[in-house]
Formats: sequence, C-alpha cells, structure tokens
Amino acid sequence: STPHPPTSATAVFEPSLFSASSIPAAFVWSDAIQQNIATHQEQFIEVPTVDLALFREPSSSQRVAKIAADASAETGFFHVVNHGVDQTLIEKVHGHSQKFFELDLSTKQKACRLPGESFGYASSFTGRFSSRLPWKETMSVQPSPVSNIPLLLEKALGDEHKESSEVFTEYSREMMRVGLEVMEVLGMGLGLDRRSLRRYFEQPDNSSILRLNYYPPCQQPGLTFGTGPHTDPTALTLLHQDNVSGLQVLHKGTWLTVSPRYDAFVVNIGDTLMALTNHRYKSCIHRALVNNRQPRLSMAFFFNPGFDTTLSPPEQLVDEANPRVLPDFTWAKFLFFTQSVHRSGVNNLNSFN
Ligand code: SIN
Ligand code: FE2
Repeated sequence: STPHPPTSATAVFEPSLFSASSIPAAFVWSDAIQQNIATHQEQFIEVPTVDLALFREPSSSQRVAKIAADASAETGFFHVVNHGVDQTLIEKVHGHSQKFFELDLSTKQKACRLPGESFGYASSFTGRFSSRLPWKETMSVQPSPVSNIPLLLEKALGDEHKESSEVFTEYSREMMRVGLEVMEVLGMGLGLDRRSLRRYFEQPDNSSILRLNYYPPCQQPGLTFGTGPHTDPTALTLLHQDNVSGLQVLHKGTWLTVSPRYDAFVVNIGDTLMALTNHRYKSCIHRALVNNRQPRLSMAFFFNPGFDTTLSPPEQLVDEANPRVLPDFTWAKFLFFTQSVHRSGVNNLNSFN
C-alpha cells in the first residue's frame, strides 16, 4: 500500500474529538479500511498459560518450560500467572495511569517527550504533522540504570505526583523480577541452563522501559488503529491490559484477539530475543484496536538488555540444522537496525514511537 501524503491537519486534544462522528484524516489508516476491522467477525486466540508457581516446583518446571517454549516458537504470545505481583499494586498502576491521562493537556505536556527521545508523555492528538497516527496517548519512563521516574512525575508535574512515581517505580521493579524469571523458563524450554538467557538481562545497564498506553474511545474505530501492526524491538514485552479488549496477534494470516485476563501478564517475544535464540523463538506481528464505547488502558513493560550487551546466541542453539541467522550485534546496533527497517516499512509507526 502507498503511504498517505503527509497532511497538515493537526488534531487538537479535546473531548469533542472523541465524540465527533468523523475522525481527522491524519488518523485514517488504509490498512484498517482494507481489513474492514469494524465489521469483521472477531476471532480469538487461545493463549497458553505459563504458571510460575508450577515452574518453581522442580517436578513441574520442565513441563511449564515446554509450554512457554512451544508458544514462543509458534505465536510468540503466552500468559504468565502466579507471577507473584501483588494484585493491589497492579490496580494502583492502573489507577495512577488513569489519573495521569485524565490531567489537563497543558499539565501532561510538562512531561512531554521531545522529538527523538524515548521518554515522557506523547500524544498523537497534538502537534504531530503526520498521517496514519495511532489513536492513543502514551507515557514512557525508564526505571534503570538511573530512573527518570521522579524527574518525569514529581519534578515536572509537582509533588502531588509523588505517589504515582513510587507506584510506577515499584511496579517496574516487579516487572524486572518477572522478566528475569520468564527468561529462566524460556532458557530451560530450549534445553539450556536456567541462567543462559537470563544472564544477558542481569547487567546493571539494563535499559527496560515502562510504557503506559491510553486509548480514548473513537467514533470510527474501523478507520484507525490504537497501535498499528508491528513487532516489538524488545527482548520481551510484559503487558497488562485492563478489562477492555483491543490487542490482536496475526497468526497464519488471521488477526486473533488476545482477551484481557486480569490475573495474568501477556508476554510476547520481541525481535531481540528472536535474535538471541537464533530465531527459535518468534517475534510476531500484533496491533491494538480502539472501540467506540469506552477508553482502554494497557501497561507495557519493555524488557531489554543493556545497550552494550552483545547479542550472541548460546552456542547450543547453533548447529548444522540451525546455522547462525545473524552475526553478533550490540543491542544498540541491533535496535538502530530494526528501527530503521521499521521506519521505512509501510505500516510500522509504532515500536518505540
Ligand atoms: C496493547 O496496548 O495492547 C499493545 C500495545 C503494543 O503492542 O504496543
Ligand atoms: Fe507491541
């Protein structure tokens, strides 16, 4: 498909945008129209469940690891349950995200993401002169190696956001723990030592990102995307969805909805883990739809190695039947490469944008 020419239409963030019967041209995606997503019969994916409590039992670790490995080699998506993250903490993150997105635009813009930067508040609804905008707002923070969470919340917005800052910090710490444990599961699933994948992510320069997504209702949901089709450049993405559905994965040519499951994290394999496993695990195309009834919140934790980490698959994953797919790259180089491929691609506006 040919990209739309850039449009000068700037959508202004105001409630009337969400009740207007027609959306501004900049949000109209030809792929959405072609795929006729509003009228298409919705199909669902049965997402395999990876139970971390069972993984911790020596008698069932292998069985759990196999479930995770099979899912990762097939759709790249699975649910993680019994992850040990306090349900109250998850609710608090949703609450504080909602509180943030409900602030006045002028307040949110005090934490604005600058062009070329990865952190802060970003909205398609203001000031972006581009076509095919995603119908969403995001807030992205970095918990390590030096956290910018207090800077983006307390410092930029004021002391009354201290609690949000603490909640996001604690949640990120928990996501790091879950990410490391999932790496053990995925390592074992390939017949490797538990630490063989995990060790790439234990470095102090780990560059994971917490991204909060807010998708306002849209009166013409069939013309646009909340998040356009893309693969994640991450190692893993650990996502928590509220009770509103919207996430879909492309499997054998069909878009399948990943139904929300409040007790679980949706984990998907990103391009980086695909490279690190010599393509045993697959990074699959997914997207998020919007709806005309209610807003949707999701919290994505992008679990990444440090920028200087060399992505060199464990030697057991390379043999005659499985030759090396990619040469060694540092993660910084790999990211630059995948991001430039994405940018020149027809429909990848998302990734880290
Ligand atoms: C989601 O909001 O469900 C997923 C967003 C993404 O894949 O970036
Ligand atoms: Fe994604």
